[in-house]
Amino acid sequence: MNIQAPRGTYDVLPDQSAKWQEVEQKINNLCRLYQYKEIRTPIFEHTELFQRGVGDTTDIVQKEMYTFQDRGNRSLTLRPEGTASVVRSYVENKLFGMPDQPVKLFYTGPMFRYERPQAGRTRQFVQFGVEAIGSKDPAIDAEVISLAMEVYRSVGLKQLRLVINSLGDTESRVAHKKALIHHFQPSINEFCSDCQIRLEKNPLRILDCKVDRDHPLMATAPSLADYLNTESQAYFDKVQAYLSSMDIEFVVDPNLVRGLDYYNHTAFEIMSDAEGFGAITTLAGGGRYNGLVEDLGGPESPGIGFAMSIERLLLALEMEKIEIGQSNNLEVYVVAMDEKTKKKAFSVVRDLRMNGISADMDFTDRKVKAQMKSADRKGAGFVIVIGETELESGKIALKEMATGEQQEVAFEEIATAILKKKSLGNRHVKNALLWGS
Ligand code: HAM
Repeated sequence: MNIQAPRGTYDVLPDQSAKWQEVEQKINNLCRLYQYKEIRTPIFEHTELFQRGVGDTTDIVQKEMYTFQDRGNRSLTLRPEGTASVVRSYVENKLFGMPDQPVKLFYTGPMFRYERPQAGRTRQFVQFGVEAIGSKDPAIDAEVISLAMEVYRSVGLKQLRLVINSLGDTESRVAHKKALIHHFQPSINEFCSDCQIRLEKNPLRILDCKVDRDHPLMATAPSLADYLNTESQAYFDKVQAYLSSMDIEFVVDPNLVRGLDYYNHTAFEIMSDAEGFGAITTLAGGGRYNGLVEDLGGPESPGIGFAMSIERLLLALEMEKIEIGQSNNLEVYVVAMDEKTKKKAFSVVRDLRMNGISADMDFTDRKVKAQMKSADRKGAGFVIVIGETELESGKIALKEMATGEQQEVAFEEIATAILKKKSLGNRHVKNALLWGS
């Protein structure tokens, strides 16, 4: 039997990994600009963390977790998301005691959910997420949202839609919950068994149900917007004002309820409007979770964050036909004519690399023609051919592939000549950007 990757997982092959690296580089750079510091938490945690953190009534906890007993009979779970782990770490490591609050954190790593795989939905996926914990300033909500938008903008995505909502504070939510129970209770037998349980435990989850979404009572369900108290509305207004001050466009959708239990006040999602994106159009989701730190044993520390999968970001790039990841193409390919010149080629390659220039050569005894083809396939910027003549004269012809131009250069000068051409090239690019040519 051939062993294949488990359903819902995939390999990132070398022709794709450059895209991942470029996205991750952009993310790291943006987090530096916004001053979010990286946190790395374990891939598995005690199951209880997610039951309490994400919420017992959520689909994630009820249906999607990879939970197992370890050899010490502990119940552990592969993390389905990052927020609960980050908050656990914030409490455990007493980050609430750090002088600078909010503590602004980011993470990039694999998450696991047992979901039905389809385009944009896998069982292992990589989330980039941020959490700002220790502030209830609406400005930080706007900052977090703007960082999410900036990630997409930095890779060139344009067809984006930011949807926001307020889930209000506890008082508003209790009032809304009552109204929901009142609305659904008389006809709850017409709903799925999950919804019947939800009615008691968390009626807001009913609005999220995939089975009963077309039931007429869904459309007429009381909207949270009508139950927001004055403080919650004022908070939401301020978040919107901050977003507008950054010229970030958004749509308010009172039906936006997120699939995790810890949210209150601001909730948001970023969708792709690109054609052909398929059924799943949500690129990122997040919101405020005042109370989660306390639920997990810490002092009052309000937080907000979001997460996005890199998979869906790459899918959106494909749909918008945006190419990324060309920056690590090969700069120089060194062709050796025969066994005798190979040693020299080997030392030229090493010398180039020592000078910060990417260089490669043949390791399978191919003929010159095949080596040239390989250089072409690898997209080499320059090619150098080393034969007897070059060894004798101490000079090579440096061929620039884009223009076909050749320049005679002494062996010791190769790296310098390439660096010079590269800096000239960069200047051309800069000028072209400046003058729009
Ligand atoms: P979430 O909405 O469950 O929120 O997931 C956030 C994002 O993770 C989604 O918008 C999507 O990009 C990606 N994602 C989720 N499931 C899958 C999947 N099966 N395959 C591919 N991508 C997926 C959270 O996880 C919260 N922790 C976000 C958050 C952080 N809220 C506050 N802080």
